[in-house]
Amino acid sequence: MKLFLIGSGLVTVFLLASRHPYVQDLLGNRSAEANYQEFCSSCHGADLRSFVEGDWLYGKSYNDVFKAIKLGYDDDGMPAYDTTFTDQEIGALTSYILTTIEDVTADDLDKNASYDDIVETDEMQVRLETVVDGLGIPWGLAFLPNGDMIINEREGKISRYSSADGLQEISGGPEVKAAGQGGLLDVEIHPDFSDNQWIYFSFSKAKGGDGTTAIMRARLEGNHLVDQEEIFEALPYVSTKRHYGSRMEFDRDGYLFLSVGDRGRRDDHPQFLNNFPGKIHRIHDDGSIPEDNPFVDQVDAVKSIWSWGHRNPQGLVIHPETGRMWANEHGPRGGDEVNEIVKGENYGWPVISYGINYSGTKFTDLTHNEGMQQPKHYWVPAIGVCGMAFVTGDRYPAWKGDILNGSLAFDYIHRLKMDESEVVSEEKLFKNVGRLRDIKMGNDGYIYFTVEGPGRVIRIVPI
Ligand code: HEC
Repeated sequence: MKLFLIGSGLVTVFLLASRHPYVQDLLGNRSAEANYQEFCSSCHGADLRSFVEGDWLYGKSYNDVFKAIKLGYDDDGMPAYDTTFTDQEIGALTSYILTTIEDVTADDLDKNASYDDIVETDEMQVRLETVVDGLGIPWGLAFLPNGDMIINEREGKISRYSSADGLQEISGGPEVKAAGQGGLLDVEIHPDFSDNQWIYFSFSKAKGGDGTTAIMRARLEGNHLVDQEEIFEALPYVSTKRHYGSRMEFDRDGYLFLSVGDRGRRDDHPQFLNNFPGKIHRIHDDGSIPEDNPFVDQVDAVKSIWSWGHRNPQGLVIHPETGRMWANEHGPRGGDEVNEIVKGENYGWPVISYGINYSGTKFTDLTHNEGMQQPKHYWVPAIGVCGMAFVTGDRYPAWKGDILNGSLAFDYIHRLKMDESEVVSEEKLFKNVGRLRDIKMGNDGYIYFTVEGPGRVIRIVPI
């Protein structure tokens, strides 16, 4: 018994001593609440929403929660904190979570969400209008030429919305692997939809216990999808359930660009051209490979690759003036980025980054490297960028040409004020509006965005 005590004492001393100095600095003597906000809130919500709403996958007892924090669930994307915190600190975090969520319901949290309000912004007064509600996690939003919305919910449901007919379900969508960050993801309308009725869906596809990012296109007939074709499948399939990427955007010449995240395998994928994850791809509308893609002549390279060295791009949009693609992507704890996407270029993940590991340790000292692109903008700490739009048209003169980025982690829209292609300043819009998923310019010239918790489509109306 004595020996055991001495033994565990040594272990504690060792753990403290082996902490990365950066973590030591960061932790000091802080409360469990402060640790939660610093290390956990970006994924689980500043209001602990994911614990309030979630079905607990691994049990809700003190021991279950303690174990989850200490050892993590790597395939799901839950980091291990055994080298970050002492057992005492993990215990304090466990108690903090379990006591804070006691007797709290999702409805209680929703009461804090602010919408249908008049909002003063730096240069404009606007009103937020909820256009559609009662949704789950509205991951993707697109507009048909007649103004109807197509809404993807992550669980797999596809809907069409018009003010005349309300919300109607669309049948014939892809079979999705709805687990972790996966499910039914983005939706994109073919530029010649009026002639060919093609709609594109990105989704997580299962094979055995593994999954990947895939794209299906199908023609819309009434509220049914027909002529389904799978035109893209990212290889390899892996067991992780995170970083699917999967935003899609047609450029002006009719090429389809799409993002695939690193699938949680940062050392295997983004810096190697012989696999699909951690890349932005460019294909023809039927999935075939354009002859002038940058790596078509390189032996062993995946021919659809347009740019590489990406982590998890969750926004992909065409610049209204230059016609070039821009993307935003999630960093780890810090290092979310906005990039102008240039043919053949390497964006550096994970060799260069402004971020650090979730555990607080560093994985690279480099923020710059030869042959690797610098972001146009980056966020430290990370905001969980999700959804992206350039403001176009005449309804928002003060915002024209600016980029709106959703913050999944902190429930607001981050506006980058632009001068041509350079960021000149920033503004946080609509604090507490909900977890942002997608942002789009509607055909009517209004900005629409989707949030979850509760799932809604909201329109920004200038006053
Ligand atoms: C990078 C995102 C991320 C961060 C950061 C993170 N988690 Fe998690 N966590 C997850 C994911 C993903 C899961 C898997 C279950 C799920 O999807 O809800 C999870 C699961 C858990 C579970 C088990 C829940 C269950 O369903 O049984 C607990 C408890 C937990 N996390 C606590 C924490 C705490 C405490 C921190 C901070 C010290 C933290 N997490 C940081 C992503 C994260």
